[in-house]
Amino acid sequence: MRLLEPACGHGAFLVAAVDRLLTATLRDGIPVRDLTRAIQAYDIEKEHVWASRAAVIERLGACQIPLRLAEELAGGWVRHGDFLLANLETTFDAVVGNPPYIRIEQLSARLQSEYRGRFRTLYDRADLYVAFIEKGLHLLAPRGVLAFICADRWTLNKYGAPLRSLIAREFKMRTYLDLHRASPFESEVIAYPSIFAIGRERLDNAVLVGSLATASREEILAVRSVLKAGPAADSGLLLRKHETWFSGDAPWVLSSSEQLAQLRSLEARFPLLEADGQTVVRIGVATGRDAAFIVPTTADIESDRMVPLVMREDLQHGGIRAGQRCVLDTSRPGGGPVDLRDYPRLAAYLESHREHLLKRHVAKKNAAHWYKTIDRVYPEIVSKPKLLIPDIAGANEVVYDEGGYYPHHNLYFILSDRWDLEVLGGLLSSRVALFFVWSYAVKMRGGYLRFQAQYLRRIRVPKPESMPERLCDAIREAFRGRDFKRLDDLAVEAYGLSSLPDFDFSDSRK
Ligand SMILES: C[S@@+](CC[C@H](N)C(=O)[O-])C[C@H]1O[C@@H](n2cnc3c(N)ncnc32)[C@H](O)[C@@H]1O
Repeated sequence: MRLLEPACGHGAFLVAAVDRLLTATLRDGIPVRDLTRAIQAYDIEKEHVWASRAAVIERLGACQIPLRLAEELAGGWVRHGDFLLANLETTFDAVVGNPPYIRIEQLSARLQSEYRGRFRTLYDRADLYVAFIEKGLHLLAPRGVLAFICADRWTLNKYGAPLRSLIAREFKMRTYLDLHRASPFESEVIAYPSIFAIGRERLDNAVLVGSLATASREEILAVRSVLKAGPAADSGLLLRKHETWFSGDAPWVLSSSEQLAQLRSLEARFPLLEADGQTVVRIGVATGRDAAFIVPTTADIESDRMVPLVMREDLQHGGIRAGQRCVLDTSRPGGGPVDLRDYPRLAAYLESHREHLLKRHVAKKNAAHWYKTIDRVYPEIVSKPKLLIPDIAGANEVVYDEGGYYPHHNLYFILSDRWDLEVLGGLLSSRVALFFVWSYAVKMRGGYLRFQAQYLRRIRVPKPESMPERLCDAIREAFRGRDFKRLDDLAVEAYGLSSLPDFDFSDSRK
């Protein structure tokens, strides 16, 4: 693999790259003299080139590399020259660095026009780092990644527009870390730094976005472990997933530092929804074949095997439109499949679906389970009061079921022995609760959010006993009346805020 550092200065990144390269080659028994093409670094200042070469030679020497070879490698790796004008005839798997911040007006007219002629993104009063990003991206190998630490003005302003649209058209954003609050530099060099990684291909279907509070070693290690764990990892509180990135030259408006400060303050002051040990967030039943396991209430099957089901489409205007369907309960109380000899009508019905049921993964894993739903049905849940929440939605749509249904897989539900569920439902219907989900959850095209269990569990709520009865009564009443404006005001009071969190999500409720 080949790494490019286009503006290496005194070698902070370069030396770290050399270290890793040496560790890997010594471990794998690769001769060090074969590494001449592994690294390419540039700097326009002679002194910086010398400083970087010296740092590299010292590091190679520390690994017992003979001085002659070390000098040769360092001389080949670190070049003196203008990266923006250099002819590089190869591509790179990694482009890493901290490009210079130079206002273009500070350059000579000749150089300005030379650069403008070469780089389409040097638009308006663009800073020179914009050209470093453009050139770095075009030097990426097919699976290469560019990661820079850099001022972030271009992500929002006018001069960044052509670069943003180049990225939208030809590249894939992977990670974006805002460093507004943290200052990782030895001196205060830039006001608004960020770290971003952009590839030619996307690894995951989401861009990970975060904000470092301190850029302390601990924080960076924590973020790194999430990034290294790969696409499926739960990004925890550190990083949010954006399912889509911005298109065209749209400015990259991410959570602002004020929003993050508000989120962190709520996180510090209130416990998680499930922290009381008596409130749980669950997902409804997955059957593996709804066409077989979901039946009309009139089906000719033993009634104790039929459990009234509520599905997403049954939720309307805050109520449940009596769904005339049931899910089949195919389990014994202990968990195994029921004995079909005890249920001849169920047996006859399932037999008529045998062919399809056998094709399911659960059936292949255990032949005796061919007629079992993937998830077990717990009929005792039907009569419990619960809150129902659809997954993908344009708002936090929370519906109270006083105890009549079993939720289907496209619904999440909340049970609690601690809360008056209509009061909790009112809080969860507010824009304060929505703010948590909006902050953490994957944002989908078309203004939808995912309200999956992992995000719902991160909602913080006041302790019920800390809420005055008058407030609880008002919330319950507003929840019943679907008075969302009033619920927002009451949530502001319950959370002790001065105003609602300000975030850009126009929810779809009427
Ligand atoms: C922000 S510093 C990089 C600091 C570096 N990461 C370090 O660890 O020291 C930017 C560097 O870019 C160099 N530079 C400026 N214009 C350049 C150009 N056109 N080509 C190559 N290097 C350039 C500067 O000399 C400076 O060393």
